[in-house]
Amino acid sequence: MSSDRSYFADWQSLEEAVKRCARCALYKSRKNVVLGEGSRNAHVMLVGEAPGATEDEMGRPFVGAAGRLLTMILESLGVKRESVYITNVVKCRPPGNREPKEEEVEACSIYLESQIILLKPQIIVTLGNVAGRKIFALGNNQWSSVMKMRGKIYKLNILSLSVSVIPTLHPAAALYNPQLRTLFEEDMKLVRKVMESVVKEVTGELQKGKSRTLLDYLKPSSDDR
Ligand code: URA
Ligand code: SF4
Repeated sequence: MSSDRSYFADWQSLEEAVKRCARCALYKSRKNVVLGEGSRNAHVMLVGEAPGATEDEMGRPFVGAAGRLLTMILESLGVKRESVYITNVVKCRPPGNREPKEEEVEACSIYLESQIILLKPQIIVTLGNVAGRKIFALGNNQWSSVMKMRGKIYKLNILSLSVSVIPTLHPAAALYNPQLRTLFEEDMKLVRKVMESVVKEVTGELQKGKSRTLLDYLKPSSDDR
């Protein structure tokens, strides 16, 4: 599907290109492009749908109400927000927060794909239907709906990387609905659990003498020991 793409070779060229991007009509109404943020050594990538009003204003992903919930739940599980990498399927805000159109998702795909290639995440968490559909398409896998797919781990081959994909709800859906919030929290606990096993694998690698920094995204929490 995307094997003939020319990806951005480094973060700097990716950042420079996305800032002046006009590949789809969303560039006209944006205040700021929201490429993503977090650790470039992260093992975990969280993928949302598109920037909302606050994100467009600040040029940062997940900093509005839904973002605060996401950040709070991550931190409550001992996962520092800045130790994961957070981005969206499309990098500019769709007017009125409508769902991004198919052609916008397609036009913007080069950036998400480049981010995946540069970061090489071992875990991708998809937040909501748009992100789930997109990441599953990149993994050549069937997507149905977030409620059917959520809460499980899918081993997908994405751009020649083997990735554990964990689909969950969009945090905006969990904001005002206690039942959905419980499901969202359960899924994020699963993310945390899978992170622990990734850390073990990385530790194994390190013992074989490969150099890579690790563990910085897991803060020990008292209920673990
Ligand atoms: N919703 C998203 O999908 N992404 C954001 O960055 C903020 C809200
Ligand atoms: Fe470019 Fe993506 Fe913004 Fe469209 S949404 S203008 S493709 S960065």
